[in-house]
Amino acid sequence: MAILVTGGAGFIGSHTVVELQNAGFDVVVVDNLVNSSEKSLKRVEEITGKPVKFYKADILDKEALEEVFTKESIDSCIHFAGLKAVGESVQKPWEYYHNNITGTLILLDVMRKHQVKNIVFSSSATVYGTPKFVPVTEECPKGEITNPYGQTKGMLEQVLSDIYKADNEWNVILLRYFNPIGAHKSGKIGENPNGIPNNLMPYITQVAVGKLEKLGVFGNDYDTPDGTGVRDYIHVVDLAKGHVKAIEKIAENPGLKIYNLGTGVGYSVLDIVKNFEEANGIKIPYEIKERRAGDIATNYADASLAKKELGWVAENGIKEMCQDAWRWQSMNPNGFEE
Ligand code: NAD
Ligand code: UFG
Repeated sequence: MAILVTGGAGFIGSHTVVELQNAGFDVVVVDNLVNSSEKSLKRVEEITGKPVKFYKADILDKEALEEVFTKESIDSCIHFAGLKAVGESVQKPWEYYHNNITGTLILLDVMRKHQVKNIVFSSSATVYGTPKFVPVTEECPKGEITNPYGQTKGMLEQVLSDIYKADNEWNVILLRYFNPIGAHKSGKIGENPNGIPNNLMPYITQVAVGKLEKLGVFGNDYDTPDGTGVRDYIHVVDLAKGHVKAIEKIAENPGLKIYNLGTGVGYSVLDIVKNFEEANGIKIPYEIKERRAGDIATNYADASLAKKELGWVAENGIKEMCQDAWRWQSMNPNGFEE
């Protein structure tokens, strides 16, 4: 039996395929490569020494998914496939709702037709909006989401919860990620954003490698210790291992479960700059800019439920995250392009 990993060529997906293969699972990847390269899967094969079964297919393409489920013996699905750029989603709401929502509905339809009713879904801390309290527990009420990308996460959580309620044969694990950064220790796979990065760590590594001049820090007047935004950064390999734990949990027929995946520690933007500089011996020039629309002051996780029920805790600290992000960027200044 195999685990279907949609979006498995992407940043979190490729790291998860490594950890699944290392844990002995058979993996089938479906990805349309809209935001990734097949080379990431070649690198995964180099890391694990095992072949990766790959279908270049769109989750909107029902026939292509039918073929995968007919040919392969799929037991569970980890569903990463989706568009994820917050700003772009404001410009292209239809594309985001269609790709993420319709794509997932088609995937779920094909799954139930083939009696595959186990799914682990990539949700996000964004569903908390401005959290009512920090550290955020899974009990924290969902908040106002300010962009279509985040809306798709909130809506798909609802869709999956309702599907479980109607048919208890389903097992649904919603994983709410905080801020994944870092890269595999080998430096062979990592985050490879198109164009100018939106997120903090890839922006910093591109300044470090000389592609960008300096970091813009979005606001230093938040109600935080140094005035810059505080987030819960989590090493992508720890996040990937959280998915292996979720797949192991799903074998116990847990029903509907929601887990935060974070470290429980908040770092400000300037903390990250300082830690990156110290970990790698590279100066990161920056300037303070206006606040970015839609940003919140502080968000970090209470991840104790994942510890209790999945036996999962994040093992890597901020130093490893900064060193591993830099190893990936410096070994691959142009990402997966030669
Ligand atoms: P990513 O863009 O690197 O990976 C997503 C993958 O999905 C890409 O390889 C892309 O080609 C593929 N894809 C997109 N639409 C598809 C479609 N219609 N059919 C088939 N493949 C498709 O992003 P990531 O950072 O690895 O994120 C993975 C998942 O985790 C996403 O659902 C994302 O929304 C979610 N998430 C990410 C973060 C983050 O900060 N990176 C935080 C919270 C949640
Ligand atoms: N920041 C800067 N300069 C930059 C980029 C970011 O100062 O060039 C700041 C932001 O203002 C914020 C912090 O760095 O305070 C982190 O910003 P990111 O863009 O890296 O991450 P976000 O917390 O805004 O959002 C990320 C993902 C979302 C996801 C959310 C929660 O982009 O998709 O984490 O998981 F929903």
